[in-house]
Amino acid sequence: MTDGKANLRIGDDDYPLDIVPAETGNTGIDISKLRADKGVVTFDPGFANTAGTRSSITHVDGEQGLLRHRGYRIEDVAENCTFLEVAYLLLFDDLPNQKQLEEWTQTVKHHTLLSEEMKRFFDAFPRSAHPMAILSSATNAISTFYEKYNDPRDPEAVSESARRLIAKMPTIAAWAYKKSAGQPYIYPRNDLSYVENFLHMMFALPVAEMKIDPVIARALNVLLILHADHGQNCSTATVRFVGSSQANLFASVAAGMNALWGPLHGGANQAVVEMLQRFHDDPDMDADRAIRRAKDRDDEFRLMGFGHRVYKNYDPRARILKKFADDVLTTVGLDDPLLAIANDLEKTALDDPFFQERKLYPNVDFYSGIIFRALGFPARMFTVLFAIGRLPGWIANWKEMIEDPATRIARPRQIYVGEVERQFVPITERP
Ligand code: CMC
Repeated sequence: MTDGKANLRIGDDDYPLDIVPAETGNTGIDISKLRADKGVVTFDPGFANTAGTRSSITHVDGEQGLLRHRGYRIEDVAENCTFLEVAYLLLFDDLPNQKQLEEWTQTVKHHTLLSEEMKRFFDAFPRSAHPMAILSSATNAISTFYEKYNDPRDPEAVSESARRLIAKMPTIAAWAYKKSAGQPYIYPRNDLSYVENFLHMMFALPVAEMKIDPVIARALNVLLILHADHGQNCSTATVRFVGSSQANLFASVAAGMNALWGPLHGGANQAVVEMLQRFHDDPDMDADRAIRRAKDRDDEFRLMGFGHRVYKNYDPRARILKKFADDVLTTVGLDDPLLAIANDLEKTALDDPFFQERKLYPNVDFYSGIIFRALGFPARMFTVLFAIGRLPGWIANWKEMIEDPATRIARPRQIYVGEVERQFVPITERP
């Protein structure tokens, strides 16, 4: 790269490309006119080397293992903020002062109830339904109650929808769980904090008063913050992708939830604990055998909770969670054998050349499930908790996309490798 230009040589032709500067992190090379000018496209499976947007929300430095939201280190916000404070930071560019935080908290509390008709919606699912399926369906469904706020080009309507989504998500999540447990739905309580209210809706029963354990509330607050945003990950990119067609915010977020559900993304937290449980139950399985299987190219087994597209160093969220897992388990007085298995697996993997060469470290999902479990959540709710945490990040990215004049409908190209032209054969003549 010279003089603010990169040069691409195609055959004998030089094609200069503009540089897209970054404040920090990877610089871009603008290939947006390449096809129009030269008739070729770039090929980048999984968009691993493609920036689809400029963003000023979250910076991840995968080489150093750094994560910052709007310039603030994840360690600082996780230690000092409430989840709604971090949501405000992501959505409105800056940390709120005391008055702004109080107003924002009150605004969110104003919308925590679901329309009463939604109860029938939850009732209609089978008891066995995965709560992620209920969560994304309900997120889509509640938009039907607020259709006049669906226009993505109306900033006031977007703000109203954003507030509603953040306010109602804990209610939807808790009711998805209550449905699977066959227990009565518990209404939100606006005298409680965001996290306390969620815990109350999850675990209270109408027959007795429930006291919220402040240790559990504090732990969940930190966990939600650690999941709040992470750049252009699969679900956030999906939210932007869907929103780029000017689909409404609810529809875009519901699509992101479905992307999150997969075991290579947010579904990994459930998969990790299920994997650890299998190791625990199988006397023939130990860390060495697990690592051998993870390395075997003919075995589909992967070490869940390990590896990351961006981090080639320890995921800073996993670093916080590893220590936090010890603290939480000690505080709630739980001796979970899965934590010892996880620690053993981590050590064996980090000492292994296969994992070292590929720079595979524990990611956020490796320890989060063990903590969610210690807080009393069933494994099938883990990805739902990730979704509640990631919601402000999805909305902030969607807003940034809608407000960016450079946004165009997302529409990647392909490299066609199929039949070029075939003679049509009537059905009666086909072999
Ligand atoms: N166990 C064993 N080998 C692995 C693992 C793993 N968990 N992760 C990556 N590798 C190997 C992979 O086989 C490949 O080896 P080779 O170069 O010899 O073919 C190399 O490491 C690079 O992996 P990749 O699959 O090309 O990397 P990716 O960036 O496409 O995938 C990933 C990233 C997170 C999907 C992958 O590491 C993975 O499947 N991890 C397990 C699932 C998981 O924990 N997901 C949570 C991700 S973090 C939070 C979130 O986004 O939700």
